[in-house]
Amino acid sequence: MKTEENYSLLAHNTFGIEARCRLFAEYETPDELAAFLRQESDPSLLAPRSLPLAPCPLPLTHSPVLHIGGGSNLLLLGDYDGLVLHSAIRSIEELPAEDDGTVMLRVGAGVVWDDLVTYTLEHGWYGLENLSLIPGEVGASAVQNIGAYGAEAKDFIVAVECMNLQTQERRVFTNADCQYAYRQSLFKTPEERGRWAVLYVTYRLSRTFTPRLDYGGIRAELERQGISPDGLTALQLRNAIVAIRRAKLPDPKVEGNAGSFFMNPVVPREVYEALALRYPDMPHYDVGLHEVKIPAGWLIEQCGWKGRSLGPAGVHARQALVLVNRGGATGQDIVNLCDAICRDVREQFGIQLCPEANFVGGKG
Ligand code: EPU
Repeated sequence: MKTEENYSLLAHNTFGIEARCRLFAEYETPDELAAFLRQESDPSLLAPRSLPLAPCPLPLTHSPVLHIGGGSNLLLLGDYDGLVLHSAIRSIEELPAEDDGTVMLRVGAGVVWDDLVTYTLEHGWYGLENLSLIPGEVGASAVQNIGAYGAEAKDFIVAVECMNLQTQERRVFTNADCQYAYRQSLFKTPEERGRWAVLYVTYRLSRTFTPRLDYGGIRAELERQGISPDGLTALQLRNAIVAIRRAKLPDPKVEGNAGSFFMNPVVPREVYEALALRYPDMPHYDVGLHEVKIPAGWLIEQCGWKGRSLGPAGVHARQALVLVNRGGATGQDIVNLCDAICRDVREQFGIQLCPEANFVGGKG
């Protein structure tokens, strides 16, 4: 178990923001986590507190315990006066399969997501290829329901094993228990947020490769690479997804960012139809019969923000959904830019954008 007081979180947030936490603890097994939580003598670090979950667009976390993964979805607004936990459970275990065509994997929450994708493809286990190169760790895949190019983590999750941070009770949530929706899960609800540490996630993958190509320019990228969709391998598809992501999304090692900063808004169909009269070229995706998802990147670009900056915070020039740290930005600089963008999108389209990134407040 690694513990350190007054610990810098710079290496733990892809925005590249310098902030410290009161105590940092990294555990390698569930028993280690349970023992640490039981013996923690400073009650102010673990005492249950209400989470004043500010409504969109400021999802602030004020819990005294903050469980982080790869820090790729985190906006630190200042030093964190509490305990930051990180999982180093990094096992990948094959469980008995349900049938000959599938494989079941129980994966530690601390496994880097893209390492899991690579590992599965090397073994001939398919499904995760469209989720290639998403930053972050396995635990967060189950909390955020990460998604890209027509696939979401929830399509593959069978069960999520968790520990209650207050009572150390262990509990297995089935896929249905997790209440998955677009970038949403039980673990993000006001009632459950901050209560559970994800220990392991069990995924069901296929032994047959079924390419999903009808989303986000995959076919165009394959054509550009001279690869025919007939006879396509999973590795070729992964490489195409990696190429698309690298071309559009900034590398956090070069320019700090948290991937998509905003969620794509889902609006009632009438709202979409009224807007479509004014903006016939507006991209959109149907969500069931009554709702439509509109890409936030398109809305932000229409408001003229693409490539622009406000102080040291900026909007990425090739994907307006991504806010970047142009160097030395504080959490507040990013929030100021977020606020300005939200205001303009609200004024021009009447739509409220919601950040996907988690805002973590200074005082616990
Ligand atoms: N668009 C613009 N301007 C922009 C960006 C996008 O007009 O600056 C338009 C595109 O032309 C396209 C549409 O918006 O018509 C959708 O764009 P894209 O396919 O790039 O996807 P997205 O909706 O912007 C979502 C995810 C990404 C994921 C991609 C690909 C969310 C919040 N974001 O972005 O996820 O990689 O789809 O599947 O759902 C992430 O979560 O960090 C992330 C990058």
